[in-house]
Amino acid sequence: MTGWRPGGKRADTASMLRVDQAGEYGATRIYAGQLAVLRRNCPEAKLIARMAAQEQRHLDRFDTLMARRRVRPTALQPLWNVAGFALGAATALMSEKAALACTDAVETEIDKHYSGQLAELGDEDPELAADIAEFRAEELEHRDTARAAGATRAAGYPLLTAAIRAGCRVAIALSKRI
Ligand SMILES: [Fe+2]
Ligand SMILES: [Fe+2]
Repeated sequence: MTGWRPGGKRADTASMLRVDQAGEYGATRIYAGQLAVLRRNCPEAKLIARMAAQEQRHLDRFDTLMARRRVRPTALQPLWNVAGFALGAATALMSEKAALACTDAVETEIDKHYSGQLAELGDEDPELAADIAEFRAEELEHRDTARAAGATRAAGYPLLTAAIRAGCRVAIALSKRI
């Protein structure tokens, strides 16, 4: 098998796929919550709709891989459905800039998460690694788009993003296990 060395530790790719699919699912729910609240034609809504379409593509790809590899989804999916939508709606209700700060915070954690997975995978599972690398680049683009559109000017940006980032880290830790 590629990358496996006797005595070497193999990456738990089923768990990786589970948490990644949960994250992309959560992202689609966050953006759905934001788009439900934001005025349809404001510039932020247009940016968010474009990013949401990419999240849907990420999710579809992980759904396909999970089905093919017979990996079960996280049991916490119903929680991420509600929590993701609530986070999106709540930040959009604060302001358009707060909605962008949410993207900034989430994508910052996702970048760290995907980078860590790529390091852990090394040359194991090139199929999964290629998807993660591609999606990571798009998540970084989302983060930069949000910042360029004024995310850092949201009221309470440091506290807001710190709280959302902490929430993401909890969600990631739980989705790996449950
Ligand atoms: Fe994504
Ligand atoms: Fe994203």
